[in-house]
Amino acid sequence: MAYTSILVETRGQVGLVTLNRPQSLNALNHALMRELMDALEAFDKNDAVGAMVITGNDKAFAAGADIKEMADESALEMTRNDHVAVFGRIRTIRKPVIAAVSGWALGGGCELALSCDMILASDSAKFGLPEITLGVIPGAGGTQRLVRVVGKATAMEVILNDRKLNAQEALHFGLVNRVVPVSEYLNEALKLAEEIAARAPLAVRAAKRAINHSYESFLKDGLDEEKQIFYNLFGTEDQKEGMKAFVEKRKPKWTGK
Ligand code: HXC
Repeated sequence: MAYTSILVETRGQVGLVTLNRPQSLNALNHALMRELMDALEAFDKNDAVGAMVITGNDKAFAAGADIKEMADESALEMTRNDHVAVFGRIRTIRKPVIAAVSGWALGGGCELALSCDMILASDSAKFGLPEITLGVIPGAGGTQRLVRVVGKATAMEVILNDRKLNAQEALHFGLVNRVVPVSEYLNEALKLAEEIAARAPLAVRAAKRAINHSYESFLKDGLDEEKQIFYNLFGTEDQKEGMKAFVEKRKPKWTGK
């Protein structure tokens, strides 16, 4: 398949996917997400690949779902089109997936990183769930996964008040495995992936499955609940105003309607 929004290559036994919409800070539009999941699923079926790395560029892993693409959708359209469903496909990947994050990992970008099995961060990485500034909430696992990782107090601040976590804070909270200089984060992620890829493949997959079983117990109900609340918010004037204000580069005026 010819991809337009990602770059795909193999390095040794590692499948590498680079998000490639730098002009919009790798905003995750529907086409990019479909390509990403297709590429991961192809690597998952490829016996020559033992682990995968997803990365962006030094400035942005991904600045979120594409606001321009969803700004005008209604709650009904959001529910019917179910664009978030594509994010769920990452949970079905059996081999380990590592996110190599530098710069912005916001909104859906942060949720994508949180859906990976490990995160290697550059010292310039910044994590956040700024959906509240758009009049909505995270919709692809942010409210469910972040709280499990960083705890309720910090998750509340990040999601209710747009607190960004820098790389050192992310390390402190256990959101990322390691923080390394920006010149090294991708190499470090590829090295870790290569080491894991060289291990007993069936045991690696079994271990991932067992760990995720523990981590994800009760997660599914929460993910469904979060997604429906996210879609419902597209029935509010605040969502329309919040996303319009972002596109028009001005401050939103909230009415609570
Ligand atoms: C669409 C985006 C975008 C996004 C950036 N861009 N983020 N376009 N969707 N999420 C575009 C900008 O419009 C701009 O395009 C270009 O990328 C460069 O961005 P700037 O804002 O000029 O860069 P900068 O001043 O460096 O600010 C960086 C930034 C800011 C702080 C990351 O771009 C920002 O706040 N982005 C939005 C972050 C966000 O709210 N994410 C959550 C989205 S909702 P032009 O054409 O002007 O050059 C979400 C919900 C997920 O993710 C739910 C599940 C799917």
